[in-house]
Amino acid sequence: MARTLFITGASTGIGAATARAASRAGWSVALVARSRDKLEALAGEIGDSALALPCDVTDLSALEKAVAAAVDRFSGIDAVFANAGRGLSKAGTVEGDAEDISALVDLNIKGVVWTARATLPELKKTRGTLVMTGSAAGRRHISGSIYGATKWFVHGYAGNMAEAMREWGGRCSVIAPGMVDTPFFDEGKPDKLKPEDVADAVLHAIEADPRAAVREIYLMPQN
Ligand SMILES: NC(=O)c1ccc[n+]([C@@H]2O[C@H](COP(=O)([O-])OP(=O)(O)OC[C@H]3O[C@@H](n4cnc5c(N)ncnc54)[C@H](OP(=O)(O)O)[C@@H]3O)[C@@H](O)[C@H]2O)c1
Repeated sequence: MARTLFITGASTGIGAATARAASRAGWSVALVARSRDKLEALAGEIGDSALALPCDVTDLSALEKAVAAAVDRFSGIDAVFANAGRGLSKAGTVEGDAEDISALVDLNIKGVVWTARATLPELKKTRGTLVMTGSAAGRRHISGSIYGATKWFVHGYAGNMAEAMREWGGRCSVIAPGMVDTPFFDEGKPDKLKPEDVADAVLHAIEADPRAAVREIYLMPQN
């Protein structure tokens, strides 16, 4: 039977590209984001092996319901891609908008923890793999960047979860891309990474032989 990948932030960009790539590789995909229309269009494109689960990942009980629906449809979850994330409309601890900063922290930190919390009981059953989207901005210091600091959290959390999950045969990976041409930016970035490049990295992590724990993939545009 096909393995199942649960993807957050699946409506656009890296998450949508990963859904397409995973489905081509034979995975069933559970698609989570807030935009029902985009998820349903993507699920329609992929076919019966995809399930649209509109949900806000900062809402733990909504996420738990999405996980239950995915398990109901596909019988289990073998891998999770905690990918939903956002930037700030204006950077800066003082200059940025307080509500915008609060929403960033809620999504990029709490949303990742809730995704892990809601899915870990299922991953434990399958000895599965949890993948998180970190960033090149979570590996180096960028003057004043709160966005970058949320990704430092993701990198730290992924390493800590890798230690915790290996106790029962699970794995945790962080993918750290540099700039990717997605709707994350208002303007296109045609000479940077494509979301498909990041999808390839995710597939590498979740399809690696069980003896190999792919802890981190750091992926930069060549130009
Ligand atoms: N693009 C880059 O250069 C780059 C580089 C390094 C890391 N990243 C990271 O890559 C990840 C994916 O970003 P992307 O570049 O693919 O940008 P994107 O196209 O803007 O994707 C963001 C995704 O997150 C979803 N999302 C936002 N808020 C959500 C919420 N509260 N609950 C559930 N889903 C939510 C969005 O869908 P809805 O709006 O439908 O909810 C969308 O599917 C993010 O974590 C980002 O920080 C991006």
